[in-house]
Amino acid sequence: MEVKSVPRIAKRSIHSHIVGLGLDTNGKARKIGGGLVGQEEAREAAGVIVQLVKEGKLGGRSILIVGPPGTGKTAIAFAMAKELGADTPFVALDGSEIVGSPRKTEILLQALRRAIGVRIREERAVVEGVVADIKYVKKQSPFYPYPVIGGARITLETKDDSSTFSVGPEIAEQLMSLNTRKGDVIIIDVETGAVRKLGRAIGRGEKRYDIEVEREVEIPSGSVKKKKELIRVVTLHDIDISVAARRVAFSGLLALFETEREISADDRRQSDEIVKKMISEGKAEMVPGVMFIDDAHMLDLECYSFLTRAMESDFSPIIVMATNRGITKIRGTDIESPHGMPRDLLDRLLIITTRLYTRDEVREIIRIRADEEEVPLTDEALEKLTDIGLERSLRYAVQLLEPARVIAVRRNSLKVEAQDVEEAARIFADVKKSVELVERYKELMLY
Ligand SMILES: Nc1ncnc2c1ncn2[C@@H]1O[C@H](COP(=O)(O)OP(=O)(O)OP(=O)(O)O)[C@@H](O)[C@H]1O
Ligand SMILES: [Mg+2]
Repeated sequence: MEVKSVPRIAKRSIHSHIVGLGLDTNGKARKIGGGLVGQEEAREAAGVIVQLVKEGKLGGRSILIVGPPGTGKTAIAFAMAKELGADTPFVALDGSEIVGSPRKTEILLQALRRAIGVRIREERAVVEGVVADIKYVKKQSPFYPYPVIGGARITLETKDDSSTFSVGPEIAEQLMSLNTRKGDVIIIDVETGAVRKLGRAIGRGEKRYDIEVEREVEIPSGSVKKKKELIRVVTLHDIDISVAARRVAFSGLLALFETEREISADDRRQSDEIVKKMISEGKAEMVPGVMFIDDAHMLDLECYSFLTRAMESDFSPIIVMATNRGITKIRGTDIESPHGMPRDLLDRLLIITTRLYTRDEVREIIRIRADEEEVPLTDEALEKLTDIGLERSLRYAVQLLEPARVIAVRRNSLKVEAQDVEEAARIFADVKKSVELVERYKELMLY
Protein backbone atom coordinates (compact mmCIF):
# COMPACT_ATOMS: atom_id res chain seq x y z
CA MET A 1 0.00 0.00 0.00
CA GLU A 2 1.26 3.41 -0.82
CA VAL A 3 1.06 6.00 1.88
CA LYS A 4 0.95 9.48 0.48
CA SER A 5 2.16 12.21 2.66
CA VAL A 6 -0.52 14.74 3.38
CA PRO A 7 0.67 18.29 2.90
CA ARG A 8 0.59 19.95 6.25
CA ILE A 9 -0.77 23.38 6.70
CA ALA A 10 1.23 25.46 9.11
CA LYS A 11 -0.68 25.80 12.33
CA ARG A 12 -1.78 29.32 13.00
CA SER A 13 -2.71 30.36 16.47
CA ILE A 14 -5.97 32.20 16.88
CA HIS A 15 -4.02 35.41 17.45
CA SER A 16 -1.55 35.04 14.57
CA HIS A 17 -3.08 38.01 12.73
CA ILE A 18 -1.91 40.31 15.49
CA VAL A 19 1.42 42.02 14.87
CA GLY A 20 1.23 44.96 17.26
CA LEU A 21 -0.99 47.48 19.02
CA GLY A 22 -1.45 49.59 15.87
CA LEU A 23 -0.67 52.96 17.49
CA ASP A 24 0.65 56.07 15.76
CA THR A 25 3.76 57.93 16.97
CA ASN A 26 1.65 59.89 19.46
CA GLY A 27 0.34 56.70 20.99
CA LYS A 28 -3.13 57.12 19.46
CA ALA A 29 -4.84 53.98 18.21
CA ARG A 30 -5.59 53.77 14.52
CA LYS A 31 -9.10 52.41 13.92
CA ILE A 32 -7.50 49.32 12.38
CA GLY A 33 -3.83 48.68 13.00
CA GLY A 34 -1.40 45.89 13.84
CA GLY A 35 -4.19 43.42 13.01
CA LEU A 36 -6.39 44.88 15.76
CA VAL A 37 -9.76 46.54 15.23
CA GLY A 38 -11.45 49.07 17.53
CA GLN A 39 -10.90 48.79 21.32
CA GLU A 40 -8.99 52.08 21.06
CA GLU A 41 -8.82 53.00 24.78
CA ALA A 42 -7.56 49.56 25.77
CA ARG A 43 -4.92 49.60 23.03
CA GLU A 44 -3.76 53.09 23.98
CA ALA A 45 -3.54 52.10 27.64
CA ALA A 46 -1.58 48.99 26.66
CA GLY A 47 0.73 51.27 24.66
CA VAL A 48 1.44 53.36 27.75
CA ILE A 49 2.27 50.22 29.70
CA VAL A 50 4.62 49.03 26.95
CA GLN A 51 6.42 52.36 27.05
CA LEU A 52 6.78 52.22 30.83
CA VAL A 53 8.10 48.67 30.61
CA LYS A 54 10.63 49.75 27.99
CA GLU A 55 11.74 52.60 30.23
CA GLY A 56 12.03 50.12 33.08
CA LYS A 57 9.70 52.18 35.25
CA LEU A 58 6.98 49.77 36.12
CA GLY A 59 8.58 46.91 38.03
CA GLY A 60 6.38 45.47 40.72
CA ARG A 61 3.16 46.85 39.31
CA SER A 62 0.22 44.94 37.98
CA ILE A 63 -2.24 45.47 35.21
CA LEU A 64 -5.64 43.82 34.94
CA ILE A 65 -7.44 43.63 31.60
CA VAL A 66 -11.17 43.17 32.21
CA GLY A 67 -13.95 42.66 29.69
CA PRO A 68 -16.59 40.30 28.34
CA PRO A 69 -15.53 37.05 26.58
CA GLY A 70 -14.12 37.44 23.08
CA THR A 71 -13.43 41.16 23.33
CA GLY A 72 -9.72 40.84 22.62
CA LYS A 73 -8.12 40.77 26.09
CA THR A 74 -5.75 37.96 25.21
CA ALA A 75 -5.23 39.49 21.77
CA ILE A 76 -4.14 42.81 23.31
CA ALA A 77 -1.71 41.07 25.67
CA PHE A 78 -0.12 39.32 22.67
CA ALA A 79 0.08 42.64 20.85
CA MET A 80 1.97 44.03 23.87
CA ALA A 81 4.45 41.18 23.59
CA LYS A 82 5.00 42.02 19.91
CA GLU A 83 5.54 45.69 20.74
CA LEU A 84 8.05 44.90 23.49
CA GLY A 85 10.28 43.07 21.00
CA ALA A 86 12.54 40.08 21.38
CA ASP A 87 14.91 41.51 23.99
CA THR A 88 12.26 42.12 26.64
CA PRO A 89 11.07 38.91 28.26
CA PHE A 90 7.36 38.13 27.96
CA VAL A 91 6.07 35.01 29.68
CA ALA A 92 2.49 33.86 29.19
CA LEU A 93 0.67 31.48 31.53
CA ASP A 94 -2.91 30.38 31.90
CA GLY A 95 -4.69 30.51 35.25
CA SER A 96 -6.07 27.02 34.67
CA GLU A 97 -2.67 25.40 34.10
CA ILE A 98 -1.34 26.86 37.34
CA VAL A 99 -4.14 26.04 39.71
CA GLY A 100 -4.30 22.39 38.65
CA SER A 101 -0.70 21.79 39.63
CA PRO A 102 0.58 20.69 43.04
CA ARG A 103 3.58 22.99 42.41
CA LYS A 104 1.58 26.18 41.93
CA THR A 105 3.94 28.60 43.59
CA GLU A 106 7.01 27.01 42.00
CA ILE A 107 5.44 27.51 38.57
CA LEU A 108 4.64 31.13 39.41
CA LEU A 109 8.08 31.80 40.82
CA GLN A 110 9.78 30.30 37.81
CA ALA A 111 7.59 32.34 35.46
CA LEU A 112 8.36 35.51 37.41
CA ARG A 113 12.07 34.88 37.06
CA ARG A 114 11.77 34.07 33.37
CA ALA A 115 10.08 37.45 32.99
CA ILE A 116 13.08 39.36 34.33
CA GLY A 117 15.93 39.94 31.93
CA VAL A 118 19.51 40.80 32.82
CA ARG A 119 21.49 42.59 30.15
CA ILE A 120 25.08 41.58 30.64
CA ARG A 121 28.05 43.39 29.17
CA GLU A 122 31.16 41.33 29.12
CA GLU A 123 34.68 41.51 27.77
CA ARG A 124 35.09 38.17 26.07
CA ALA A 125 37.99 36.55 24.30
CA VAL A 126 36.77 35.93 20.77
CA VAL A 127 37.92 35.16 17.27
CA GLU A 128 36.18 37.18 14.62
CA GLY A 129 36.53 37.47 10.87
CA VAL A 130 35.45 36.53 7.38
CA VAL A 131 35.56 32.81 6.62
CA ALA A 132 38.28 32.46 3.99
CA ASP A 133 38.32 28.68 4.13
CA ILE A 134 36.49 25.94 6.01
CA LYS A 135 37.01 22.16 5.92
CA TYR A 136 35.17 19.67 8.07
CA VAL A 137 36.98 16.65 9.45
CA LYS A 138 34.99 13.42 9.58
CA LYS A 139 35.68 10.51 11.87
CA GLN A 140 34.18 7.09 12.51
CA SER A 141 31.46 7.22 15.16
CA PRO A 142 32.01 4.91 18.13
CA PHE A 143 28.24 4.34 18.32
CA TYR A 144 26.93 4.44 14.77
CA PRO A 145 28.12 2.71 11.59
CA TYR A 146 28.77 5.97 9.77
CA PRO A 147 31.17 8.87 10.00
CA VAL A 148 30.35 11.93 12.10
CA ILE A 149 31.79 15.42 12.34
CA GLY A 150 35.04 15.24 14.26
CA GLY A 151 36.02 18.89 13.95
CA ALA A 152 36.91 21.54 11.41
CA ARG A 153 39.81 23.59 10.11
CA ILE A 154 38.93 27.15 9.52
CA THR A 155 40.68 30.26 8.25
CA LEU A 156 39.39 33.65 9.34
CA GLU A 157 40.48 36.98 7.91
CA THR A 158 40.09 40.60 8.91
CA LYS A 159 41.24 43.67 7.00
CA ASP A 160 44.60 43.41 8.76
CA ASP A 161 45.06 39.80 9.84
CA SER A 162 44.54 36.17 8.94
CA SER A 163 44.57 33.11 11.17
CA THR A 164 43.97 29.40 10.69
CA PHE A 165 42.98 27.09 13.52
CA SER A 166 41.25 23.81 14.19
CA VAL A 167 38.12 23.43 16.28
CA GLY A 168 36.46 20.48 17.99
CA PRO A 169 33.17 18.77 17.14
CA GLU A 170 30.98 21.10 19.28
CA ILE A 171 32.04 24.17 17.35
CA ALA A 172 32.14 22.32 14.02
CA GLU A 173 28.56 21.19 14.47
CA GLN A 174 27.41 24.74 15.15
CA LEU A 175 29.29 25.98 12.08
CA MET A 176 27.55 23.34 10.04
CA SER A 177 24.07 24.00 11.33
CA LEU A 178 24.58 27.72 10.67
CA ASN A 179 25.41 26.69 7.11
CA THR A 180 28.70 28.56 7.36
CA ARG A 181 30.44 29.18 4.03
CA LYS A 182 33.22 31.33 2.58
CA GLY A 183 32.39 35.01 2.82
CA ASP A 184 30.40 34.71 6.09
CA VAL A 185 31.45 36.91 8.98
CA ILE A 186 31.44 34.88 12.17
CA ILE A 187 32.44 35.33 15.78
CA ILE A 188 33.35 32.51 18.17
CA ASP A 189 33.45 32.92 21.93
CA VAL A 190 36.73 31.20 22.79
CA GLU A 191 35.65 30.18 26.29
CA THR A 192 32.15 28.85 25.67
CA GLY A 193 32.58 27.89 22.02
CA ALA A 194 29.35 29.67 21.09
CA VAL A 195 29.32 30.58 17.40
CA ARG A 196 27.38 33.49 15.93
CA LYS A 197 26.98 34.41 12.30
CA LEU A 198 26.97 38.18 11.86
CA GLY A 199 26.15 38.19 8.11
CA ARG A 200 27.76 38.19 4.68
CA ALA A 201 30.92 40.24 4.17
CA ILE A 202 30.30 43.07 1.72
CA GLY A 203 31.95 42.29 -1.62
CA ARG A 204 33.21 38.86 -0.50
CA GLY A 205 32.22 35.43 -1.73
CA GLU A 206 29.96 34.47 -4.56
CA LYS A 207 26.35 35.58 -4.59
CA ARG A 208 24.19 32.50 -4.60
CA TYR A 209 20.82 34.08 -5.19
CA ASP A 210 19.61 37.18 -6.95
CA ILE A 211 17.92 38.23 -3.77
CA GLU A 212 20.01 37.53 -0.69
CA VAL A 213 18.11 37.73 2.56
CA GLU A 214 21.21 37.62 4.72
CA ARG A 215 22.50 40.83 6.22
CA GLU A 216 25.58 42.37 4.63
CA VAL A 217 28.24 43.45 7.10
CA GLU A 218 31.61 45.22 7.01
CA ILE A 219 34.74 43.11 7.12
CA PRO A 220 36.11 43.43 10.68
CA SER A 221 39.44 45.16 11.21
CA GLY A 222 42.21 44.51 13.76
CA SER A 223 43.42 41.04 14.66
CA VAL A 224 41.35 37.86 14.43
CA LYS A 225 41.94 36.99 18.07
CA LYS A 226 40.82 39.78 20.35
CA LYS A 227 38.83 40.93 23.35
CA LYS A 228 35.42 42.23 22.53
CA GLU A 229 32.56 43.64 24.58
CA LEU A 230 29.57 41.40 24.04
CA ILE A 231 26.07 42.21 25.21
CA ARG A 232 23.49 39.57 25.82
CA VAL A 233 20.21 39.34 27.63
CA VAL A 234 19.60 36.33 29.82
CA THR A 235 16.78 35.85 32.32
CA LEU A 236 17.05 35.40 36.07
CA HIS A 237 15.78 31.89 35.48
CA ASP A 238 18.70 31.16 33.12
CA ILE A 239 21.06 32.22 35.87
CA ASP A 240 19.19 30.08 38.42
CA ILE A 241 19.64 27.07 36.15
CA SER A 242 23.36 27.57 35.80
CA VAL A 243 23.79 28.07 39.54
CA ALA A 244 21.81 24.89 40.22
CA ALA A 245 23.78 23.00 37.58
CA ARG A 246 27.05 24.00 39.16
CA ARG A 247 25.83 22.87 42.59
CA VAL A 248 24.75 19.52 41.17
CA ALA A 249 28.07 19.09 39.40
CA PHE A 250 29.88 19.59 42.70
CA SER A 251 27.63 17.33 44.72
CA GLY A 252 29.26 14.27 43.18
CA LEU A 253 28.03 10.89 42.18
CA LEU A 254 24.55 11.18 43.68
CA ALA A 255 23.81 13.88 41.17
CA LEU A 256 23.94 11.29 38.43
CA PHE A 257 20.72 9.85 39.72
CA GLU A 258 18.91 13.11 39.96
CA THR A 259 16.31 12.99 37.20
CA GLU A 260 15.08 16.52 37.38
CA ARG A 261 17.28 19.39 38.31
CA GLU A 262 15.48 21.24 41.07
CA ILE A 263 16.31 24.85 41.65
CA SER A 264 16.49 25.45 45.38
CA ALA A 265 15.69 28.64 47.28
CA ASP A 266 19.39 28.85 48.00
CA ASP A 267 20.30 28.70 44.31
CA ARG A 268 17.92 31.58 43.67
CA ARG A 269 19.37 33.64 46.51
CA GLN A 270 22.80 33.00 45.09
CA SER A 271 21.83 34.15 41.60
CA ASP A 272 20.21 37.28 43.06
CA GLU A 273 23.55 38.00 44.72
CA ILE A 274 25.44 37.43 41.47
CA VAL A 275 23.13 39.79 39.61
CA LYS A 276 23.22 42.48 42.29
CA LYS A 277 27.00 42.34 42.27
CA MET A 278 27.17 42.65 38.48
CA ILE A 279 24.78 45.58 38.57
CA SER A 280 26.76 47.39 41.25
CA GLU A 281 29.96 46.86 39.24
CA GLY A 282 28.26 48.33 36.19
CA LYS A 283 28.51 45.09 34.25
CA ALA A 284 24.80 44.42 33.99
CA GLU A 285 21.42 46.05 34.11
CA MET A 286 17.92 44.76 34.76
CA VAL A 287 15.38 44.43 32.00
CA PRO A 288 12.06 43.84 33.79
CA GLY A 289 9.69 42.15 31.37
CA VAL A 290 6.08 41.04 31.51
CA MET A 291 4.45 38.03 33.08
CA PHE A 292 1.00 37.56 31.59
CA ILE A 293 -1.59 35.44 33.41
CA ASP A 294 -4.62 34.77 31.26
CA ASP A 295 -7.92 33.82 32.91
CA ALA A 296 -6.49 35.01 36.21
CA HIS A 297 -9.79 34.34 38.06
CA MET A 298 -8.74 30.67 37.98
CA LEU A 299 -6.04 31.39 40.57
CA ASP A 300 -6.66 30.66 44.24
CA LEU A 301 -5.88 32.54 47.43
CA GLU A 302 -2.47 30.91 47.80
CA CYS A 303 -1.45 32.08 44.32
CA TYR A 304 -2.74 35.60 44.92
CA SER A 305 -0.87 36.01 48.21
CA PHE A 306 2.24 34.71 46.53
CA LEU A 307 1.91 37.22 43.69
CA THR A 308 1.19 40.12 46.01
CA ARG A 309 4.34 39.31 47.94
CA ALA A 310 6.35 38.85 44.75
CA MET A 311 5.45 42.37 43.63
CA GLU A 312 7.25 43.69 46.69
CA SER A 313 10.53 41.95 46.01
CA ASP A 314 13.67 43.59 44.61
CA PHE A 315 13.34 41.90 41.27
CA SER A 316 9.85 41.91 39.90
CA PRO A 317 8.42 42.02 36.39
CA ILE A 318 5.19 43.72 35.40
CA ILE A 319 2.34 41.34 35.97
CA VAL A 320 -0.47 41.58 33.43
CA MET A 321 -3.61 39.60 34.15
CA ALA A 322 -6.82 39.15 32.18
CA THR A 323 -10.28 38.08 33.29
CA ASN A 324 -13.88 38.06 32.09
CA ARG A 325 -15.41 37.60 35.56
CA GLY A 326 -17.27 40.26 37.55
CA ILE A 327 -18.08 39.70 41.21
CA THR A 328 -17.24 36.12 42.01
CA LYS A 329 -15.87 33.95 44.79
CA ILE A 330 -12.13 33.92 45.38
CA ARG A 331 -11.21 30.35 44.54
CA GLY A 332 -10.78 28.19 47.58
CA THR A 333 -12.78 30.57 49.80
CA ASP A 334 -16.37 31.71 50.32
CA ILE A 335 -15.45 35.36 49.91
CA GLU A 336 -17.11 37.23 47.07
CA SER A 337 -14.87 39.87 45.53
CA PRO A 338 -14.48 41.87 42.30
CA HIS A 339 -12.97 39.58 39.63
CA GLY A 340 -12.50 36.91 42.29
CA MET A 341 -9.38 38.66 43.56
CA PRO A 342 -8.40 39.62 47.10
CA ARG A 343 -8.66 43.29 48.05
CA ASP A 344 -4.99 43.92 48.78
CA LEU A 345 -4.15 42.74 45.28
CA LEU A 346 -6.96 44.75 43.66
CA ASP A 347 -5.66 47.88 45.37
CA ARG A 348 -2.39 47.58 43.48
CA LEU A 349 -3.86 47.11 40.03
CA LEU A 350 -4.13 49.44 37.09
CA ILE A 351 -7.24 48.34 35.22
CA ILE A 352 -7.78 48.33 31.46
CA THR A 353 -11.24 47.50 30.15
CA THR A 354 -12.41 46.08 26.84
CA ARG A 355 -15.95 46.63 25.57
CA LEU A 356 -18.35 44.81 23.27
CA TYR A 357 -17.86 45.30 19.54
CA THR A 358 -20.09 47.10 17.08
CA ARG A 359 -21.32 45.29 13.97
CA ASP A 360 -18.72 47.00 11.79
CA GLU A 361 -15.92 45.99 14.13
CA VAL A 362 -17.04 42.36 14.25
CA ARG A 363 -17.19 42.29 10.44
CA GLU A 364 -13.70 43.76 10.20
CA ILE A 365 -12.21 41.27 12.68
CA ILE A 366 -13.74 38.34 10.82
CA ARG A 367 -12.44 39.76 7.54
CA ILE A 368 -8.90 39.97 8.95
CA ARG A 369 -9.11 36.44 10.37
CA ALA A 370 -10.45 35.05 7.05
CA ASP A 371 -7.53 36.70 5.30
CA GLU A 372 -5.07 35.24 7.78
CA GLU A 373 -6.54 31.74 7.39
CA GLU A 374 -6.82 32.19 3.63
CA VAL A 375 -10.53 31.49 3.59
CA PRO A 376 -12.14 33.31 0.63
CA LEU A 377 -15.58 34.63 1.65
CA THR A 378 -18.40 36.07 -0.43
CA ASP A 379 -19.97 39.26 0.95
CA GLU A 380 -23.04 37.28 2.01
CA ALA A 381 -20.91 34.75 3.89
CA LEU A 382 -19.11 37.58 5.68
CA GLU A 383 -22.49 39.11 6.68
CA LYS A 384 -23.69 35.71 7.91
CA LEU A 385 -20.57 35.27 10.04
CA THR A 386 -20.98 38.80 11.37
CA ASP A 387 -24.55 37.91 12.45
CA ILE A 388 -23.21 34.83 14.21
CA GLY A 389 -20.41 36.82 15.82
CA LEU A 390 -22.92 39.28 17.28
CA GLU A 391 -25.61 36.78 18.29
CA ARG A 392 -23.40 33.99 19.60
CA SER A 393 -19.79 35.00 20.06
CA LEU A 394 -16.89 36.37 18.06
CA ARG A 395 -14.74 33.39 18.95
CA TYR A 396 -17.42 30.99 17.65
CA ALA A 397 -17.73 32.91 14.38
CA VAL A 398 -13.94 32.86 13.92
CA GLN A 399 -13.85 29.14 14.64
CA LEU A 400 -16.43 28.42 11.91
CA LEU A 401 -14.11 29.76 9.18
CA GLU A 402 -12.13 26.57 8.64
CA PRO A 403 -15.09 24.15 8.74
CA ALA A 404 -16.99 26.42 6.33
CA ARG A 405 -14.03 26.30 3.96
CA VAL A 406 -13.96 22.51 4.07
CA ILE A 407 -17.69 22.39 3.35
CA ALA A 408 -17.30 24.78 0.41
CA VAL A 409 -14.43 22.75 -1.08
CA ARG A 410 -16.60 19.63 -0.94
CA ARG A 411 -19.11 21.28 -3.21
CA ASN A 412 -16.25 22.30 -5.48
CA SER A 413 -16.80 25.94 -4.70
CA LEU A 414 -13.80 28.23 -4.71
CA LYS A 415 -15.44 30.64 -2.33
CA VAL A 416 -17.21 30.17 0.97
CA GLU A 417 -20.84 31.22 0.57
CA ALA A 418 -23.56 31.94 3.12
CA GLN A 419 -24.88 28.38 2.80
CA ASP A 420 -21.48 26.94 3.83
CA VAL A 421 -21.43 29.13 6.91
CA GLU A 422 -24.98 28.03 7.79
CA GLU A 423 -24.01 24.40 7.32
CA ALA A 424 -20.94 24.79 9.53
CA ALA A 425 -23.06 26.50 12.21
CA ARG A 426 -25.64 23.71 11.94
CA ILE A 427 -23.20 20.89 12.58
CA PHE A 428 -20.96 22.63 15.13
CA ALA A 429 -22.57 23.91 18.31
CA ASP A 430 -21.47 26.95 20.24
CA VAL A 431 -21.17 26.82 23.99
CA LYS A 432 -24.68 28.16 24.62
CA LYS A 433 -26.16 25.42 22.47
CA SER A 434 -24.05 22.64 23.94
CA VAL A 435 -24.94 23.69 27.48
CA GLU A 436 -28.65 23.81 26.64
CA LEU A 437 -28.37 20.34 25.17
CA VAL A 438 -26.87 18.68 28.21
CA GLU A 439 -29.20 20.60 30.52
CA ARG A 440 -32.18 19.29 28.56
CA TYR A 441 -30.88 15.73 28.62
CA LYS A 442 -29.50 15.90 32.10
CA GLU A 443 -31.92 13.42 33.60
CA LEU A 444 -31.54 11.01 30.75
CA MET A 445 -27.76 11.21 30.83
CA LEU A 446 -27.60 10.39 34.53
CA TYR A 447 -29.05 6.94 33.97
N1 LIG B 1 -9.96 44.04 18.47
C1 LIG B 1 -9.62 42.93 17.83
N2 LIG B 1 -9.00 42.98 16.64
C2 LIG B 1 -8.66 41.86 15.99
N3 LIG B 1 -8.91 40.62 16.44
C3 LIG B 1 -9.53 40.50 17.61
C4 LIG B 1 -9.92 41.63 18.37
N4 LIG B 1 -10.53 41.21 19.49
C5 LIG B 1 -10.52 39.89 19.44
N5 LIG B 1 -9.93 39.43 18.31
C6 LIG B 1 -9.78 38.01 17.93
O1 LIG B 1 -11.00 37.37 18.29
C7 LIG B 1 -10.75 36.13 18.97
C8 LIG B 1 -11.21 36.20 20.43
O2 LIG B 1 -10.49 37.21 21.14
P1 LIG B 1 -9.68 36.95 22.53
O3 LIG B 1 -9.36 35.50 22.65
O4 LIG B 1 -8.57 37.90 22.59
O5 LIG B 1 -10.82 37.34 23.56
P2 LIG B 1 -10.75 37.42 25.15
O6 LIG B 1 -11.24 38.78 25.53
O7 LIG B 1 -9.42 37.03 25.64
O8 LIG B 1 -11.87 36.36 25.57
P3 LIG B 1 -11.99 35.42 26.90
O9 LIG B 1 -12.54 36.27 27.99
O10 LIG B 1 -12.98 34.39 26.48
O11 LIG B 1 -10.64 34.90 27.18
C9 LIG B 1 -9.26 35.92 18.82
O12 LIG B 1 -9.03 35.20 17.63
C10 LIG B 1 -8.70 37.31 18.74
O13 LIG B 1 -7.45 37.30 18.11
MG1 LIG C 1 -8.74 35.38 26.69
